[in-house]
Amino acid sequence: MEDGRRVLSSVVASQIQTHQKYGGVVPELASREHLRAITPVVEEALAQSGTEWKELDAVACTYGPGLLGSLLVGVTYAKAISYAHKLPLIAVNHLEGHIHAVVLEHPQTALPALALIVSGGHTHLYHVRADFEYELISRTRDDAAGEAYDKVAKLLGFPYPGGPILDKLAPYGNPKAVRFTRAQMKGNALDFSFSGLKTAVLRWTEANAIADEVAARKRVAASASADEWLAVTPKATLDLIASFQQTVIDELLSRIAKLTEAHPVESVIITGGVACNAGLRLAAAASKIGVPIYFPTPGLSTDNAAMIGAAASRKLRKHDLAGLDLRAKASLAL
Ligand code: KG4
Ligand code: ZN
Repeated sequence: MEDGRRVLSSVVASQIQTHQKYGGVVPELASREHLRAITPVVEEALAQSGTEWKELDAVACTYGPGLLGSLLVGVTYAKAISYAHKLPLIAVNHLEGHIHAVVLEHPQTALPALALIVSGGHTHLYHVRADFEYELISRTRDDAAGEAYDKVAKLLGFPYPGGPILDKLAPYGNPKAVRFTRAQMKGNALDFSFSGLKTAVLRWTEANAIADEVAARKRVAASASADEWLAVTPKATLDLIASFQQTVIDELLSRIAKLTEAHPVESVIITGGVACNAGLRLAAAASKIGVPIYFPTPGLSTDNAAMIGAAASRKLRKHDLAGLDLRAKASLAL
């Protein structure tokens, strides 16, 4: 990252193929894959950027929240680089990184803002009062939105991660065909809940004998195109997918609409893996929320290091540095 604005190189080592046969992320395998990938990824990032170690001003890493084994690999590696190359170390909260993915691409994002982080691990809404000042307003009580996508996809026989596949198929179904009851929240009415939706889909699969189509989808390669998935997905299932996607989008955007009434903000940020969702982007663009809504480009919506670099550049300017006693924290709050 140069000057906190220009991404000189962005290298992502995907582990999706490793986890695909287990239907989800296996923590032990994730940390092993990180260990295997980290040196080649760092070397490739340096090579692509045409930069040498001695030209760097600092090294940054995320130290949480997330899977401890994976965080340990990154934190330990960054500390070693910091020590060996005598570079300041910057610690970035992973969620803060997701927010800075938006600021990186949309420097005009005005504060205060409302930030929705929606990924496989998080569905969290923050009020961002000023730079690096966050107040958690609501969160999911159970599954994250991405997790709900992945679990529903798995019930229907699609491979992990199912979010992108369901998103591609949703436009082919009727979003009003299946009615899901909305979770009524006790306590903070703005909290999210997606586990009931997943259970409703499970009941639907039991009531609609779909064993044959599920078996057919399990025979399709994980990398199949939308057309290949359409060939093994009947109309009733497409209707279910469209209705599920519509319900998730409504849950997310209705909370944002309510909140922008209560908290006067200048902008809305939607970030994290689920921010790739085409239906969500279209609905956000058509919504009557009176302030601009910013998404990162899909490449910066899912996990990446550029967003950590963007947050770190701002921290470096404020001399907000970490020591070599930095520790990974699985459940770090923002
Ligand atoms: O941010 P991310 O890369 O990793 C973390 O969870 O931190 O997000 C991955 C999640 C997965 O659950 C995946 O299914 C979901 O984001 N996802 C999507 C889409 N693309 C990725 N969900 C819905 N629609 C999409 N287009
Ligand atoms: Zn993430």
